[in-house]
Amino acid sequence: MKKIVILTGAGISAESGLKTFRDSDGLWEGYNIEDVATPGALRRNPQLVQHFYNERRKSVLEAKPNAAHYALAALEEKYEVTIITQNIDDLHERGGSTNVIHLHGIITRSQSSINPGLTYPINGWELGMDEVCELGSPLRAHVVWFGEDVPMIETAAKICAKADIFILTGTSLAVYPAAGLINYVPNYVPKYIVDPNIPHVRQTNVIKVQEKASVGVPELVNQLLNLDATG
Ligand code: APR
Repeated sequence: MKKIVILTGAGISAESGLKTFRDSDGLWEGYNIEDVATPGALRRNPQLVQHFYNERRKSVLEAKPNAAHYALAALEEKYEVTIITQNIDDLHERGGSTNVIHLHGIITRSQSSINPGLTYPINGWELGMDEVCELGSPLRAHVVWFGEDVPMIETAAKICAKADIFILTGTSLAVYPAAGLINYVPNYVPKYIVDPNIPHVRQTNVIKVQEKASVGVPELVNQLLNLDATG
C-alpha cells in the first residue's frame, strides 16, 4: 500500500469555526503568546493560561469536523495514511482518521505540570485550577508551548522521509520544528499544498491547490482514490 503523509495546521479547522493563529482576527491578535503559551506564562498568571485553554476547549467541543477532515479519513480505504497535525483539536479523530500524530499536543487531555509524560483525559470543557496529578502537582493543558520540546518530531521526520505522497494543508509553515518536516520528504515525492494562501516552499515537485480545505482537500482525495494506489 502506498504511504500518504499529511501535515495539517489550523487552517483545516477554520471552516469548523476554530480560529487560526496568524490570519486576520487570529488567536495571536487577541492574546500575546508570552502571556498564555509559554512555561513562564503559567508561572506568572496560571488563571489566565487556564482560562485561555478552557475557552479554546469549549470551542473545540462545539466544533464539528468539516469535509476536509472526512476526506482525509477516506484515504485510509486505499492508502497507508499518517496525519501529522500541529492542531490541538480532535477533529481529525472525530472525522474518522485513525493514525494521527499531535505534534503540539491535544487540548482534550491535561498533563502534570512537573511530568509531561503523565497525561489525563479532561471530562467536559473546564480544567479546574485545583486539579492535580498523581504526584500532587497542578494539571495544565496537554499542549506543547513555545520554548518546549516537541517530543514526536523525530518520529514525524522519519515518517515524512518514507512518504510516497505528501499533502500540506492549513499551515503557514511559520513555526519550527513542524515547518521543517517538508524538508524530509524526498525530492521525487509529489507534494500537494492546499491553502487559499499558499505558503512559500523551496521544494521541487510541488502541486499548488489554491483553495480552502473543505473544497480543495475532497477534490484531491477523489483524484488520489481513483489512482492505482497499489505498490
Ligand atoms: N482552508 C485551508 N487553509 C486555510 C483556511 C482554509 N479555510 N483558512 C486559512 N488557511 C490557512 C492560512 O492561509 C495559513 O496558511 O491556514 C494557515 C494558518 O496559519 P497559522 O494561523 O499560522 O496556523 P498554523 O500554521 O497551524 O500555526 C502553526 O503556530 O502558534 C503556533 O502552536 C501554534 O500549531 C500552531 C503553529
